[in-house]
Parts: sequence; structure tokens; C-alpha cells
Amino acid sequence: AEPSRKPMPSALTFARHAKCSTTKARASTLHLPHGSVPLPIFMPVATQASLKGLTYDQLRQTGCMLCLNNTYHLGLKPGQAVLDAVGGAHKLQGWDRNLLTDSGGFQMVSLLKLATVTEEGVRFLSPHDGTPMLLTPEHSISLQNSIGSDIIMQLDDVIATTSPDHARIKEAMGRSVRWLDRCIDAHKNPESQNLFCIIQGGLDLELRRQCCAEMVARDTPGIAIGGLSGGEAKEEFCKVVDTCTGLLPEEKPRYVMGVGYPEDMIVAIALGADMFDCVWPTRTARFGNAIVSSGTLNLGHKTYAQDFGPIDEECTCACCRPTKQGGLGITRAYMFHVTQKETVGAHLLTIHNVHFMLSLMGAARQAILEDRYPSFVRDFFSKIYDGDK
Ligand code: GUN
Ligand code: ZN
Repeated sequence: AEPSRKPMPSALTFARHAKCSTTKARASTLHLPHGSVPLPIFMPVATQASLKGLTYDQLRQTGCMLCLNNTYHLGLKPGQAVLDAVGGAHKLQGWDRNLLTDSGGFQMVSLLKLATVTEEGVRFLSPHDGTPMLLTPEHSISLQNSIGSDIIMQLDDVIATTSPDHARIKEAMGRSVRWLDRCIDAHKNPESQNLFCIIQGGLDLELRRQCCAEMVARDTPGIAIGGLSGGEAKEEFCKVVDTCTGLLPEEKPRYVMGVGYPEDMIVAIALGADMFDCVWPTRTARFGNAIVSSGTLNLGHKTYAQDFGPIDEECTCACCRPTKQGGLGITRAYMFHVTQKETVGAHLLTIHNVHFMLSLMGAARQAILEDRYPSFVRDFFSKIYDGDK
């Protein structure tokens, strides 16, 4: 299918600063309607218009310039009428920086066992009252237009990467292309909201290549690689990212959806990816797990009962910095004391984990700017695997 339409306006500019001389890593800045975002970046997930455990002041202090909301959740509650009345999700939640919304289909298929996908859209039963609902590409875009997010995602047909049903994976890839066309036609605010396409095709590199060609021809302001982080082998994950980035234009941002383990992001950056999101860093914080340079620490473990050091020696977050400087701050012993007993434990670890992810991205970016990304990657992995915990 050849798209025959006029070029889509864009509400972003993408400034490329440096490319690594030996890998595909890029350092750039994404200028969006609510501020500039240094890339590569990790985007924390505020599913229900709230980053669980944090006030927006605290989120701002982690340095976050772009976070996620979900169309599916906001469309159900508070619903489109409230979003229209208040003037969008920035106003609803008092967030003056950028928002990205996922389109909803992925959440439905992953959250609701009863969702079924047809060419029309995704059918499901409302989790509130069981009434049958249909999310079409047009409805997803209409909701995202009401939300007013700076980046909106196309509705896509997502199949688990581990699915053995090749015919279904192929159908989902083709359908995602057709749904992109419907999303483009339905989008009312291309001059203030950036629509990103989503490459599908499972682990079949030939399907991924075909999908890249179709999606790139539609010329959206940014491009996502979807259908990963579903339990596929790391080698397969790398092949898909590498194949796609090799076919995508250099001058557009590339977002690998649902990826947020530090190791996966550091590798995907080397393969030319710029943006990531995942619930894991914030969710695991609520279970008492701290992300640190040597890996993950469960601070609920009694080995930390008398550890009066910071959560992470190298971290400069609001919890760790004062402790490191010898002042009164948050210690591992305090975290042990409150973890999973007091809500403040979850708040503090969420602050730390989000800050950790953002400063990891900042350090990666600096390494790319100074053309030393390969040695940065070696240092990063040696801290994890040659471990001194
Ligand atoms: N989140 C993680 N993976 C995906 C995907 O493939 N599509 C969408 N829409 N969201 C995702
Ligand atoms: Zn910290």
C-alpha cells in the first residue's frame, strides 16, 4: 500500500548532537511542546495520571521531562467528558512537562484476557460494569486528542513475541499498518501532538523489514518498535532492534516500547534506540527493591539492618546525596526498617529508582557525546557481573 497524503505536520524537533563511531548509539535532544528531553531517555510510567507514590514536585526533582499515561485507563476514568472539561491530562494532574500516551490496545490485550481483536478494533468488556466496548483506531486517537499528550501512539495489534502462530503475527503486522492509516486520518491536532507509528512483526526479521518500509513511508514524527520485552531471548531482542534501526531514518526519534531493565536499555542504545519506558523500576521500588550500579538490592533483607550507607554509593538523588555527603539522609538501614511496612519506603525508593534510571541515561548520553560509549558499556556490565556488592 502506498500512502498518498500530504506530509504530516510535526510538533517536535529532533536535534542530533553525536553518533558513536563504533556502535549505532546516538545522543540527541527531543524538543517537545512541554520542554526539551535529552536522549537517550527512560520514561517512567504514570498509568492512571499518577506516578504511584510521588507528587509531581518530586517527579520534577528527579529530572523527569517526559512520562507516560495510558489512554485505556484515562479513557475509562475520569473519561473523555472530564478530560475535555478540564482541558487535558496536563491540567488534570498538574504536570507542566511532557506526556506520552500509549494507545490502549496493548494494555487491554495484556490486562484483560477477554479482549478480542478484529479489523475494526479491540473488543472488551468494561472492567467497571462489564458492558461491551470497542476501542477502534479512531476512538483511541480521539481520546488521546482529548488527553492532549505531547506524543500519542497509534493503536496497534500486538501479539506475544513468543507466540508460535506465524500467520497471526503476520496479520497483526499488516493490521497495524492499516490502523496507522486510520489513526493518521483521525488525528485532529498534528500541530500540537506527535503521532508515533509502532513497528510490529514479532521475531520474524523479514516481517519487521516489511513493516519498517510501510511505516517509514507514512512519515510520522517518531517511530516506535513494539512487540518486544515479552520474554523473548536477548539475542532475538537484539536482532529485532538492530534490524529495525538499520532501516529507520536517522533524523527521527526511535522508541523501544516496554523496555526498562538497565542492561536492555544500555544494549538497545548501542543498537540505535533513543527512548524507553517500563513499569518495572517504579513497581519494583514498591516491593523494596533498589536499582543500583551493581544490580538490584532487596532492602527488605536483614543484611541491611545495620548498613548505614546510602542506597547507592554513586547516586545523587534526594535520598542518597545527603547520606553520601555525611549529613542526615536515607540509609539502607532505614529502608530496611520501613520497606513494605510504611508507605514512605515506597516513596523514597521510587524517587531513588527513577533518579537512577535518568542519571544512567544521562551518563550514557555523556559517553556518546565524548565518543566513549563502548568503554561505558564495558564499565556498566563489569559493575554488575564482576560484582562488589
Ligand atoms: N508496550 C509495550 N510493548 C508495546 C507494543 O508493542 N505496543 C503498544 N501499543 N504498547 C506497548
Ligand atoms: Zn539514590
